[in-house]
Amino acid sequence: MTNNNYKNWKINQDNDGIVWLHFDKENSPTNVLSKDVLHELRDIINELESKPPRGVVFLSDKESGFIAGADIKEFPEIKTEDQAREALNFGHSICNSIENLSCPTVALIHGFCLGGGMELALACRYRIADNDPKCKMGLPEVKLGIHPGFGGTVRMIRLIGVMNGLDAILTGRNISARIAKRIGLVNYAVPKRHHINAARNVIFKAPKPFKLPFWNRILNHKRARPWVAKLLIKKVEKKASRAHYPSPFAMIDLWVRCYDDHQYMLQEEINSFVGLIVGKTAQNLIRVFLLSEQLKSLGKTGDYNPKHVHVIGAGVMGGDIAAWCALNGFKVTLQDRSMETLAKVIKRAFGLYKKRLKDKHLIRAALDRLIPDIKGDGLKKADIVIEAIFEDPQVKRDLYAEIEPRLKKDAIIATNTSSIPLDELNTILKKPERLVGLHFFNPVAMMPLVEIVHCPKTSNDVSRMAAAFTRRINKLPLPVTSTPGFLVNRVLMPYLMESVELAGEGIPLALIDKAALDYGMPMGPIELADTVGLDICLNVAEILSQHMEISVPDRLRKMVEKGDLGKKTGKGFYAFKKGKPVKPAIPKDYTAPTDIQDRLIMRLLNEAVACLRDKVVDDADLADGGIIFGTGFAPFRGGPFQYIDSRGKDQLIKLLDQLEHRHGPRFAADKEWQQL
Ligand code: NAI
Repeated sequence: MTNNNYKNWKINQDNDGIVWLHFDKENSPTNVLSKDVLHELRDIINELESKPPRGVVFLSDKESGFIAGADIKEFPEIKTEDQAREALNFGHSICNSIENLSCPTVALIHGFCLGGGMELALACRYRIADNDPKCKMGLPEVKLGIHPGFGGTVRMIRLIGVMNGLDAILTGRNISARIAKRIGLVNYAVPKRHHINAARNVIFKAPKPFKLPFWNRILNHKRARPWVAKLLIKKVEKKASRAHYPSPFAMIDLWVRCYDDHQYMLQEEINSFVGLIVGKTAQNLIRVFLLSEQLKSLGKTGDYNPKHVHVIGAGVMGGDIAAWCALNGFKVTLQDRSMETLAKVIKRAFGLYKKRLKDKHLIRAALDRLIPDIKGDGLKKADIVIEAIFEDPQVKRDLYAEIEPRLKKDAIIATNTSSIPLDELNTILKKPERLVGLHFFNPVAMMPLVEIVHCPKTSNDVSRMAAAFTRRINKLPLPVTSTPGFLVNRVLMPYLMESVELAGEGIPLALIDKAALDYGMPMGPIELADTVGLDICLNVAEILSQHMEISVPDRLRKMVEKGDLGKKTGKGFYAFKKGKPVKPAIPKDYTAPTDIQDRLIMRLLNEAVACLRDKVVDDADLADGGIIFGTGFAPFRGGPFQYIDSRGKDQLIKLLDQLEHRHGPRFAADKEWQQL
């Protein structure tokens, strides 16, 4: 190799003539295939083509992994089909050239090897993975509303067969090195320290490629494909609707139509991808990805490096928060009033760790980090104290008065309160600036968002530390002001109360849920209320009703009085069997009103707009991110404000006027609509 003046690639040719292509993207902690990287790679491959070496090895100099994929930050630049086609043709030409090099090619994979990175590895003749659990391979494009676009649709299926290949593409799930070895995605899974030797061996010995068993190849036959596709479509339809998420269906269609001719399928992959990426779903899902990056950037850790968390209150929330922090590497002391409560948390944590960590040594280590601490000995050493006791301001204040003298001088106190203004809690503190809200959502392990609640007295540093801590436990921080309901509960409550209102009008419960599901919500509001717990809904709704136009339906109060609290008592709006709601069938002759969905969604949108007016969050983008990650709001719609934008605010204001006319002043359009 003559030229070695690349910004992102370092090239070494050893005495045996093997070229080692070290990928080390300039000014970035992660390797991504941005435009400049691909242009350099094109030049490198051109040179390799003209003078093939003994072998070529692709490897990464980044600790984070091999290649995380395409540079998604560049995606919004793609506005037209022609721009998309040009980018894809370029990526294809590179992967095709790698595949067609006359010498053996090897990808040495550690850490993340995803999306375009996986496709590059697939174009190599051999793949060797690090057998560490941190090594994750996959094609997650479906999560962005697209499918692989650098030849991965063809190469993945050809290599590991249709069931495993399409499963990887349709689910976007990560594949561990152990499984990758088993299904033939990699040739070897060995510790990273053996990678160099393994690559040399492979180049010199050129072992035969993995061959798919006959039964697996037969499923790709043109007569079998339509049958297999039918089954796959049925499976996909259970998870996503074609109208909302077209990409998995496009992927299946591509395979059925084209698999007999791989060259043709490569071409059609480009056509299919181009149609998807300029579509609304992909544009919105890309937006959601970028919003998550924006939230992550709000939690930059800087030099804040907390090590020890003390959690007080080991109930539903405190117990799960403690378990989660220990899972993410923190030493956690957990305090409550009885040993039984603490024991229950340890049992729950064990279940979580078994599911997440799998390896018994890692499970043991995580459990060792979670320390029951009935006397609160951990307080004096903790960097951050998370309070999750009863939702009662006086009880919380009493606790703060008791613990503050025992804390380290710069320790912060974070309350998980979902409704009490911080100004009511910090009055007792000698240093009120150290109190911040860390509002987690239930269930803690599933919900990605944490609201970072601040009031005028909270110091900026403390808010920043809380956000940084949130990133350290792998959650997304959203700064919000200490106003009733913060952002997420505030927009969710009118929507939930409207569903209770609809139920009170005799509309079949399943129909109410269906209206929300049809919009794209992950769960209907009635089932959601039952799942959260009707007592909790009532409590939050009552607190919010003191501050805003929200009436609490009597029916909800009565159900709570009766002890029908939802899933946790086996009965709420629905009866629950084995943790699942039994939804009564909708009577055949029932004619539903046509505005159920509008009533639900417009209450949520109207409240989101009111939150902007009250400056609960800084801007509409943060509101969109918070509402998507905090409520599950239909991600393919890109968030409430993106939806308002795409439907047109004037049309929606008109709709609110009509609803107000029909159903009353709770639908009155917030004045902030005019400012949008
Ligand atoms: P919970 O009733 O399940 O647990 C509270 C725990 O605190 C109990 O185990 C109790 O023994 C303990 N406790 C009370 N006073 C204590 C004291 N002085 N010292 C030590 N332990 C004490 O309550 P839950 O639902 O976990 O809520 C806790 C906090 O989290 C509340 O502020 C609530 O508003 C908030 N929250 C609750 C959510 C939920 O879905 N349950 C969601 C988000 C926030």
